[in-house]
Amino acid sequence: MDMDEIVCNCMNVTKGMIKDAVDSGSVTLEEVQNVTGAGTACGGCIDNIQQLIDEFTTKE
Ligand code: FES
Repeated sequence: MDMDEIVCNCMNVTKGMIKDAVDSGSVTLEEVQNVTGAGTACGGCIDNIQQLIDEFTTKE
């Protein structure tokens, strides 16, 4: 997985930033949104973000 890949174009949030948020304790979409800002503009990336959260929270 390319951690530098942008998942949220509106807010310029990368996969790595989602992972960092999950690693620092954010496990819900809402928490990750609060921490990273991802998915707070057009909302079009929310499904992808949720998928990444699921991935990062199940893979330790
Ligand atoms: S692409 Fe993430 S809020 Fe628009």
